[in-house]
Amino acid sequence: MRVILLGPPGAGKGTQAQFICDAFSIPQISTGNMLRTAVAAGTELGQRVRGVLDSGALVSDEIIIDLVKERITQDDCANGFLFDGFPRTIPQAQALQAAGVPIDAVVEISVPDEEIIKRLSGRRMHPGSGRVYHVIFNPPKVDDVDDESGEPLIQRIDDKEATVKERLSVYHQQTRPLVEFYQNFSNTESLRYVTVDGLGDVNDVQKEVLKALRNE
Ligand code: AP5
Repeated sequence: MRVILLGPPGAGKGTQAQFICDAFSIPQISTGNMLRTAVAAGTELGQRVRGVLDSGALVSDEIIIDLVKERITQDDCANGFLFDGFPRTIPQAQALQAAGVPIDAVVEISVPDEEIIKRLSGRRMHPGSGRVYHVIFNPPKVDDVDDESGEPLIQRIDDKEATVKERLSVYHQQTRPLVEFYQNFSNTESLRYVTVDGLGDVNDVQKEVLKALRNE
């Protein structure tokens, strides 16, 4: 199963990715997590992209396409994968097609902008694994501690309100056009396009997403 999760920042892509990957035994390929790991490790890539991530803008298509192409050659992708946060621009989607990477389903999680601000201001994250929580909507068992590792949770620098607004604006200009791109594509190719309302609680959204992917 090869899946793309599409949706604005804070729609719940990372949250739902965890359930989908468990259900279908496929790896989560989150370009955002890959970039944050590079920043935290201080690699050359991390130094190049740090400022872009903090500002809420997008990293160049060239960097992202190379990163993803390399990632999907790894053994754990043999039976599929879930793209979370990729593709993010039309050129990224075209590069995927040009590379002959087949996609079985695109799941769009739809959430209005007003809700996004609330969600991102309460988000907490485990930097080692990318697991996400929300102080009210999806709290960890112990405040500010990761359920599985017992390690501390952090707040992302790009979750400040002004940066979230910038990320939303970038989403509408550069990523939202992918909705039409993949809807058109689904009319001609064997690709399923489904839109799930991301406004319910985490478990209800999970049920809808899994139902859609299992074609129930
Ligand atoms: P990335 O890490 O991909 O961030 P994003 O797309 O902005 O998405 P988020 O991780 O903010 O949100 P999400 O949809 O995963 O929501 P989550 O599940 O956490 O990208 C970061 C940066 O990296 C970009 O700005 C860019 O610079 C760069 N980048 C990455 N990929 C790139 C690419 N392809 N091209 C160029 N640049 C790229 O949920 C959010 C919160 O809501 C959590 O607290 C969660 O607990 C809560 N929540 C989830 N579901 C619900 C629910 N149903 N009800 C209530 N609360 C909920």
